[in-house]
Amino acid sequence: MTRLSVPFGDTIRQYRTQQAELDAAVLRVLHSGWYIMGPEVRAFEEEWARFCGAAHCVSVGNGTEALHLALRALDLQPGDEVITVANAGGYGAIAARQAGLTPRFADVDERSHTMSPASLAAAITPRTKAVLPVHLYGRPADMDAIMAIARQYDLPVVEDCAQSHGSRIDGRMTGTIGQIGCFSFYPTKNLGALGDGGAIITDDAAVADKLRKLRVYGWDQKYHNAVAGGINTRLDELQAALLRCKLPLLDEWNRLRGERAEWYRELLGNIRGISLPETVDGHVYHLFVTQVHGGRRDALKQALAERGIGTEVHYPLPTHLQPAFHDLGYEPGELPVTERLAETVLSLPCFPELTRDEVGAVCQALREALA
Ligand SMILES: Cc1ncc(COP(=O)(O)O)c(C=O)c1O
Repeated sequence: MTRLSVPFGDTIRQYRTQQAELDAAVLRVLHSGWYIMGPEVRAFEEEWARFCGAAHCVSVGNGTEALHLALRALDLQPGDEVITVANAGGYGAIAARQAGLTPRFADVDERSHTMSPASLAAAITPRTKAVLPVHLYGRPADMDAIMAIARQYDLPVVEDCAQSHGSRIDGRMTGTIGQIGCFSFYPTKNLGALGDGGAIITDDAAVADKLRKLRVYGWDQKYHNAVAGGINTRLDELQAALLRCKLPLLDEWNRLRGERAEWYRELLGNIRGISLPETVDGHVYHLFVTQVHGGRRDALKQALAERGIGTEVHYPLPTHLQPAFHDLGYEPGELPVTERLAETVLSLPCFPELTRDEVGAVCQALREALA
């Protein structure tokens, strides 16, 4: 019997499900002669704001720039501190640095892998000026508790929703609970462009107005640099047109991701040696992240690779221990849960087009490798 190889991700499958529509959208833009800041971008911004239930959407070039400009729009002072998490790929910390701010880190909750409210409260100092939680892996962070702490200290909250498109908490979309929500449309995201893209949502008209200037050189009108800190970071017409084709399918794709998570749970229910992520309301399964116990994660990843199964580690080295953030002065052991999770997390293939047979093949390979 030949084994089924299963890729960790496969963007071409999604393209093929909508090929005619996507090809037509590309041609529409090519033939329009208008490639930057035109009708597709304006329409996508309206459609994304409506989908999210936000008053304003400002599109940008990628998710990191979304976070960067969101932090800039808060009018903080150089060196002011932003508290984020250290298990989410470091994008928030990079954005804080870009905005002239200092990243600090709260530990994460053992079960949710998102910001621990208790650790956030303990990390706040007089220098703290903003909070940046991440809805990691598609699971919403504990926004009730985080917002309560932020209100107590009068801190704005910027939500990193790069992995949580379409995730709702009690009917409210992630990204609309804090002051500003930031999205990446990197191709593998739940709503992915066919290139780079990003967006910022907010209900605050003044913040949206400032963001619109910051993304085009700080211009309030052509060739007039009104706002300091402006850069060039724009979603282009092609990507906006493609995202408009895909947006109507986002909720269904999220449902399919959830269904695949259920298949894993069904087929791996009593497995020993790994634990599966909890099901919670609003989880849109950008990633299906297991934990491998007994120090066997890297060996299991290798054994799965030998059986043709693609897996990933999100993320192997926590941000506070990365060489580029050494100057922040963190030592190993300071964020114990974050550091422990970095050694155990293993993401299994989980995307809307993954078949039941493929999930079965991943589970069979896992059982063999763990035996
Ligand atoms: C949690 C998180 N934040 C921010 C980003 C940055 O997005 P981008 O790659 O579009 O800059 C990503 C994705 O790469 C992400 O996963």
